[in-house]
Amino acid sequence: MDAEVGIFGGSGFYTFLSGARTVPVDTAWGAPSAPVTVADVDGVRVAFLPRHGRHHELPPHRVNYRANVDAMRQLGVHTLVAPFAAGSLRPEIRPGDLVVVDQLVDRTWGRADTFHDRFDGGPLHVSLADPYTPRVRRALLDAGSDAGFDGGARIHDGGTVVVINGPRFSTRAESAWHRQAGWHVVNMTQYPEAALAREAGLDFGGLALVTDYDTGLDSDPDVMPVTQEVVFDVFRRNIDRVRTLLLAALADLAKR
Ligand code: ADE
Repeated sequence: MDAEVGIFGGSGFYTFLSGARTVPVDTAWGAPSAPVTVADVDGVRVAFLPRHGRHHELPPHRVNYRANVDAMRQLGVHTLVAPFAAGSLRPEIRPGDLVVVDQLVDRTWGRADTFHDRFDGGPLHVSLADPYTPRVRRALLDAGSDAGFDGGARIHDGGTVVVINGPRFSTRAESAWHRQAGWHVVNMTQYPEAALAREAGLDFGGLALVTDYDTGLDSDPDVMPVTQEVVFDVFRRNIDRVRTLLLAALADLAKR
């Protein structure tokens, strides 16, 4: 067993720990997005895998989610945390904020989202009523408050992420629909990661780093629709906070 806690890197998050060793993993679903690296952090073995590849060569609809989740499972990971860039659908969730999401809505299509392509006697229909494991959410929130991302405004406890297929961003009408439905943030990768983690029996947590207001804000016509440059820029400027939070959460994340 090589690792206990797994972390997926997102847009602008390609390395986690210096001095990590590369562990070759192959899966029945093909190769993961990049070589997995494993490091020991204060006695916790952590595996890291950038979901878009080391040089961001894989757009969200081309990521081999099955290979990525299965690679983590094979390494012995029991708890998987998936940080992700997200657009905000609400004025009070601001760029730079973090959201420890507790629900998701899948609006992707055509993605391989199950390990059970054949009826081979194993469990076939898993419950995804609660895609995010409460213990993992708690660990992230506690680490957030310990790291000084104090209450309410900057780290949000709960929220629904609506997952679009991408790679394009939403139209104004789609974004208005997502807002009216009561959802909080929008992203392109949380599905099928959450479903596959459940099928693989892994505890799962999603940490949104808000980079933009999607198509804009009704209350402020000066806020422009999101661009790729904005997502990368805001993510890059805030990635150290995400790293700090994850490091602070590791000991709790390791306690399954
Ligand atoms: N990732 C970051 N911002 C996003 C947005 N507005 N829509 C979808 N995915 C995103």
